[in-house]
Amino acid sequence: MISAQIQTASYLFASILFILSLGGLSSQTSAKRGVLYGIVGMAIAILSTVLGEGVEGQIYIVTAIAIASVIGILVARKVEMTNMPQLVAILHSFVGLAAVLVGFGSYLDPATHNIQGAEHTIHLVEVFIGVFIGAITFTGSIVAWGKLEGTIRSKPLLYPGRHLVNILLLIVCIVLCVMFTQMHGIDGMLYLYIMTAIACFIGVMLVMAIGGADMPVVVSMLNSYSGWAAAAAGFMLGNDLLIVTGALVGSSGAILSIIMCEAMNRSFFSVIFGGFGNAPAGAAREVTGEAVAILHDGVGQLLKDANSVVIVPGYGMAVAKAQYPVYEMVEKLKKDGKEVRFGIHPVAGRLPGHMNVLLAEANVPYDIVMEMDEINDDLSDTDVVLVIGANDIVNPSALDDPNSPIAGMPVLEVWNAKNVIVMKRSMATGYAGVQNPLFFKDNTQMLYGDAKDSVAKINAVL
Ligand code: TAP
Repeated sequence: MISAQIQTASYLFASILFILSLGGLSSQTSAKRGVLYGIVGMAIAILSTVLGEGVEGQIYIVTAIAIASVIGILVARKVEMTNMPQLVAILHSFVGLAAVLVGFGSYLDPATHNIQGAEHTIHLVEVFIGVFIGAITFTGSIVAWGKLEGTIRSKPLLYPGRHLVNILLLIVCIVLCVMFTQMHGIDGMLYLYIMTAIACFIGVMLVMAIGGADMPVVVSMLNSYSGWAAAAAGFMLGNDLLIVTGALVGSSGAILSIIMCEAMNRSFFSVIFGGFGNAPAGAAREVTGEAVAILHDGVGQLLKDANSVVIVPGYGMAVAKAQYPVYEMVEKLKKDGKEVRFGIHPVAGRLPGHMNVLLAEANVPYDIVMEMDEINDDLSDTDVVLVIGANDIVNPSALDDPNSPIAGMPVLEVWNAKNVIVMKRSMATGYAGVQNPLFFKDNTQMLYGDAKDSVAKINAVL
């Protein structure tokens, strides 16, 4: 057992470590250190809570933590890098569910029934808001998981008057909150149940209304919601560390969502309110034409003749684990005196920084890895662009078809290069489910096959 003073000091220390952890994660070179700070901070936080005054039944808590840790380690070891967003989404749903359960527990706790006056009202409002945010996070994250996993269709579910319905439901919840705060003991349980059901419904509808291409923003937004839900739980439990940690997660998730919205040219409010104003005015333009195929020898020859090459990797490179042969190819080309660079789209792959992580894994030096904005203007002077397993992030419809589901999203304008080679297995669409006119352009040729296989064969030719 530790005293309250030692617990407060440990909480303060853990909070500082969490802030240092977030700071560390902002750059690739300090990211490992950042993760380490986070682990140490969390270990201190858990220990000082479990050993705190008034906590009983440590054996049950430690057993539960041990079982959950084993499950967590097994799941994290097993999950493929490409499935990481699904894991993150489902973990957010746990945070939401935990906030709901803490809210119910706190309301039922007899110790809270003796609180009087304004303090009593404040406690009930904390419970109500905590359960509300938690329930939205819980069901919203499950739908996000389903959309990322492909079990729920990624097309937005837009029904007329949905914003009105959401606003009405919100007003009903506010009325329920007022009635709930008038109740004594546990007489307000029914209001809590009704609000939880409504909040669960709002969570489903908000995320169902958001299209597949906007899912990255949704995941980071749910991350933010889960932080606020944890902060609300911190208020209910009177736990300062949970409030600080929740606020850190909530605000950093919100900042990440804003950055991603800017990168994808989406309005932040349109995304958080479930695709408000997102519906296109008409049908997307039909994409037709004939794609021209090329073989590995042909690509090898084009590369031999080129002076400048830009590689645009996407989700398919991650699936094929092609980053290692890709780096081998880069080395060969550089040895021949060619300028080789990578062009990275902010939402390439399935999680923020996905491509950067893969390229770093294969030891590609950072100085040839360019952001979309840094490389777009240079593409017209590029001899060959190799698009490796990417699709949506190089789709010209985003710029020239206002009715396309990805309209307005900035893309890598690879079609401006002299030659474009697209490596993928078929003519299938990408994550957003839209056909890509790039494949039918005069300067584009398709190299069909698994990306790793194709790059290895090109390496053999080189
Ligand atoms: P996508 O548009 O999903 O296209 C990937 C392409 O890779 C597919 O068309 C597929 O075509 C090809 N492919 C799959 N496996 C392959 C393999 N083994 N070898 C070669 N090609 C393979 O990917 P993208 O261009 O990277 O765009 C990302 C999309 O995901 C965006 O719509 C984005 O909004 C969304 N998203 C991003 C994130 C984040 S944060 N990055 C999170 C969730 C969703 P074939 O089947 O024909 O091979």
